[in-house]
Formats: sequence, structure tokens, C-alpha cells
Amino acid sequence: MKERLFHEEVLYFNQKLGEVIEQKLLECNHEILRDALTYIQETGGKRLRPIICLLSAEAVGGSREKALSTAIAIELLHNASLVHDDIIDENDIRRKNPSNPARYGEKKAIIIGDLLFGLSCEMLARCGVPEVVSLVSNAVADIAMGEYLEFTLRTLQEANLHSYMEVAELKTAATFMASAEAGAVLGGGNEVEIENLRTYGKNLGVAFQIQDDILDICGDPANTGKPVGLDIKNGEQTLLVIHALHHSNESEKEYIKAILSRERDPGIFDINRVRSILVDAGSIEYALQLAEEFVRTARNCIAGLEDSEAKQKLQFIAQFSMERIKIHVSNTFI
Ligand code: FPP
Ligand code: MG
Repeated sequence: MKERLFHEEVLYFNQKLGEVIEQKLLECNHEILRDALTYIQETGGKRLRPIICLLSAEAVGGSREKALSTAIAIELLHNASLVHDDIIDENDIRRKNPSNPARYGEKKAIIIGDLLFGLSCEMLARCGVPEVVSLVSNAVADIAMGEYLEFTLRTLQEANLHSYMEVAELKTAATFMASAEAGAVLGGGNEVEIENLRTYGKNLGVAFQIQDDILDICGDPANTGKPVGLDIKNGEQTLLVIHALHHSNESEKEYIKAILSRERDPGIFDINRVRSILVDAGSIEYALQLAEEFVRTARNCIAGLEDSEAKQKLQFIAQFSMERIKIHVSNTFI
């Protein structure tokens, strides 16, 4: 599948999401609802999760329409969690725009997140399948637990690969997993197909979190839409940091730990220095390879599905996420 076909999927989903948003605003044009919903429309996003949901339904022979309300529910849930995440991470910029807390202040942003979450629940209920309501609801609890676990790890001296994976699976992979699984259930997939798509989502989700970690330190803000080094500034034990803490010399380790513990507010000099330690320790290359492994596993998980355009698109999404990162970091950082 070419990039163009993915773009068409995004257009389709955005149009359907737009219709729901317009309907909501017709029913109730309250200021806070308008602020929450227009923000989602104006700032966009990759829409990976809902598209995975729609394609999963098609990949098992079902129709995308059956999965549409759930796909919208998952996108609203994801946006709700990002609004709250921006409060926790003190993130002023999201998707090249002022974040919700930066726009409206923290208190209103909390309510905006809750409101989006409520709308998500309503859209989810529309699918009419208790199994799907249950698996997406479980994902909500997982996301919250993952966010909390990540938060607690910030104060630990040294996280490890195990704790990192636990956070990645809960905080990020849970929504990818729910998207693929819900789509497969709604599309009428059999047990094996549902399991294969579930594990596709899980592996892609972990790969996505690792890619996000790489972009935090190597990405161009013009593309990522967020400032560079935010994870480091927030004391985040990213995969790259965990690797570097095991593969750099004592003074470099102490430097990274001092930055992460926020002994002082790191400036661009500190971020650049941390980046060069990560490069020298091979941490970026390590993270790239691990992300690639998860992408490969994700692709293998659905290799046994009957051939279809939807399956090819799901394979493409996994591969494309990796290509994008590699172009970003090639030559410059490894
Ligand atoms: C972004 O991660 C954050 C998440 C994927 C989940 C955030 C979850 C919560 C705030 C708790 C649950 C809330 C609800 C409404 C269910 P990141 O900080 O690694 O990514 P970023 O760099 O894009 O901010
Ligand atoms: Mg964040």
C-alpha cells in the first residue's frame, strides 16, 4: 500500500468523526463542548488507532461501518488521555499547537479530558456488543495504570527493561490492542483471527512507544509537533535512557541521572549533551532495532490472515511507522 492509501483512510475517518462532532454541537453548543471538540478537529493527529480498528474489521471479512462508532470512541478516548497527559507532563505544545492546559489552564483541561472521555463512552455503547464494551473499558483501566506506573518510575534511580515494557504495554499498547481486537470482534472474526489481530495491536503499540521515545530526542519539532527532549526534562526513564544507564561511563551516568532527577531545569545544552551520550552508548541504534523487532512480530502476527486489501494496509501501517523513524534519525544520530 502506498502512503496515499493511508491518507485516504485518514480522510474517511476524519469525515465520519467530523459528522459526529457536528451532530454533537447541533444538539448542544456549549462553550466547553465546542472547545473540546473543535480542538480535536483542528489539530488532527495520525488517527492510527481508529484506522487499525476499521481495517481489522475488514481484514476478517466484516464491514468498517460496524466498527465505526467504536473507532470513534477509541480516538476520543485517546484524545482524552492526551489532554490529561499534557497536564501531568506539563506539556505546552501538542501537535504543533498550544496544548489544552496551555490554552485553557489546568482546571478546564481536566474537565475537557473528562468530557471527551464521556463522549467516548457514549460512542462505545453504540456498538451494542458487550464483549467490545468490556475490552475497550479494560483498556481504559490499563492506560490509567500505565500512566501511573510511569509516573512512579520517574522517581526510581534505575528503571529496567522489564518495568519499561510493563509501562509501554499498559499505557500505549493497550489502546492499539483494543483497537485491533474490537475491530476483529465487530467484523465477525473467528477466535484465531481475533487473537492474531490482538497481538498485532500489542506489538505495534510497543513499537510505537519505542518510536515515540526515539522521536523525543531525535525528532524535528516541525514534524513531531512537540518540543525536543520533553521526556528527558520530565525525568522519564525512556528505553534509550535505560540502555544508556547500562552502557555509558560513570560520569555520563551521573550526568544523565542529575538531569532526570531535575536537580536543575535542563536547557538545550543539557538535552544536546544527553543526546550525544545516547548516541555514543548506541542507545538510539538499540531502540531502533528493538522497535523494528516489534514491528516484524506485529506483521508476522497477521501473516496468516486471508489476503485482503485491509490486511495489506495493516502490514503497511506497521512498516511505515518504522520507515518514518529511520528517515528521521538516519545519518544524523547513528
Ligand atoms: C502519552 O504518552 C500518554 C498516554 C498514551 C496515556 C495517558 C493516560 C492518562 C493521562 C491516564 C488515563 C486517562 C484517561 C482519560 C483514560 P507520552 O507522554 O509518552 O506521549 P507524548 O510524548 O505524546 O506526550
Ligand atoms: Mg506526554
